[in-house]
Amino acid sequence: EKKVIIDADTGIDDALAILYALKATDVHVEGITTVFGNISVQQATENTLRIIQLAKTTYEIPVVQGAEKPLQRTLQGFSTKVHGENGIGDVELPPSAQKALGEEAHEFILRKADELPNELIIVALGRLTNLAQALQKDATLAQKIKHVYVMGGAVHVPGNVTPVSEANIWGDPEAADIVFSSGLPITMVGLDVTMKTLITQQHLNYLQEHCQEENKDIVEFINESLQFYFDFYHTSNYWMGAAPLHDPLTMLVALEPGVVKTQQMKIKVECQSEICQGMTVADLRRNALVGSPVQVCIDVEAEYAVNKLLSVFL
Ligand code: BDR
Ligand code: CA
Repeated sequence: EKKVIIDADTGIDDALAILYALKATDVHVEGITTVFGNISVQQATENTLRIIQLAKTTYEIPVVQGAEKPLQRTLQGFSTKVHGENGIGDVELPPSAQKALGEEAHEFILRKADELPNELIIVALGRLTNLAQALQKDATLAQKIKHVYVMGGAVHVPGNVTPVSEANIWGDPEAADIVFSSGLPITMVGLDVTMKTLITQQHLNYLQEHCQEENKDIVEFINESLQFYFDFYHTSNYWMGAAPLHDPLTMLVALEPGVVKTQQMKIKVECQSEICQGMTVADLRRNALVGSPVQVCIDVEAEYAVNKLLSVFL
C-alpha cells in the first residue's frame, strides 16, 4: 500500500484525481494539502473537504491548507474560465462537517516525512509553493521523500498558459525551481503526456450506464463538472466533448508507473525571462549541463489510463 500526500489546487481535474485516489485500493492517502491556483486556497480547501465527503471514505483524510500566493510574485488571478467560479465547474456539493487541520501545509509535509521516512510519496497537482516552503525550512526533506510526481511542465509540446509554459510551473516558477533543484526524486508528468490522455463524452456515458449504485453521486458529479471542462477545451482547443486528464494521470502514474514511458533529462525552470516564465527547459545535449535530473514522461498508454482511472467507479 502506497502512502501518499496529495497537494492540490482543487479544480475539476484535481477533484477527479482525488476521487480516484480515495477509491483505489492500493493507496493510503495520508493527507491532502491545498494551494492557490485554479482558485483561491480557501476555495481549494473547501472543495477538497466536500470531495472527501462525496467519496464516503472508510478512513479519515486530514486536509491542510497551504499557500495563498506565490513565494515571491504577486498573485495573477485564478483559472475560473477553465474550472468555473467555484473551481469545480460550478457544481454545488453539500458542505462538509470536517474542518481543515490548524497546521500549515508545509509543516504537515515535514511532519509526515519524519513520521514515514523514505516511504512518503507526494503527488503535486498545483503550484509547487507548499513543497518549496517545506524545502526552504528543511532542505533534508529531499532525502526523506520516496518520490514526487509533479503535474507540470512541457518539453516537446507547447505550453497551456503561454507558448512555452504549463500553468502549475508558470504560476510559481521560483517554487518550481526550488523543488526541481532540491535533489528530490521527481517524475514530471507534463503536457507531453497529459494532453494525450483525453476523456470523452463516450467514456462518461459508459460510466453512467455501468457504475455501481453506491458510486452514482460521484459519477453524477464527475459528469456535471466535466461538462464545464469540455466547454473550455472546445473554446480553447476546438475539441468536441473531450478534455485532458492532467491531474488524474499524474495520480495514476504515482500508483502505476508503467502506464507511461519516461526519459531522464536535466530540467531547469526559467524564472528570469518574461516570455519564457515557467518554461521547463530540457537540456537534451549529450553532455547536458543545465538543470537537474528528472524523469520526464514522454509517452502514455492513454486509452488504458483513462479506462483504469474510471474503473474504480464501476
Ligand atoms: C494544470 O493546471 C490546472 O488547471 C490543472 O488542475 C492542472 O493541474 C494543467 O496545466
Ligand atoms: Ca491542478
